[in-house]
Amino acid sequence: MLRKVKITICLGSSCFARGNQQMIARIQKYIKVRQLEDKVEFKGDHCSGNCSEGPNLFIGTRLFQKISSENIEKILDTGLAEYIKQ
Ligand code: FES
Repeated sequence: MLRKVKITICLGSSCFARGNQQMIARIQKYIKVRQLEDKVEFKGDHCSGNCSEGPNLFIGTRLFQKISSENIEKILDTGLAEYIKQ
């Protein structure tokens, strides 16, 4: 069985207040539209201590910072391309 790629969004108070609250629905929609449910695991996590460059998102072990509604799809495309052929 293939291991799923972990997408981990920071739900610490700083990242959450800076936009990650809105990113949750955007990421869920991205996964659903591309039918990636069997390939990715999306979850939230606590503050990783990188607040000043947030909002933050991990795709696998790679950290993406300053995510926003303008760049989230590109970040997901880029981050997932390392693991999944879409
Ligand atoms: S709140 Fe997200 S890194 Fe600290």
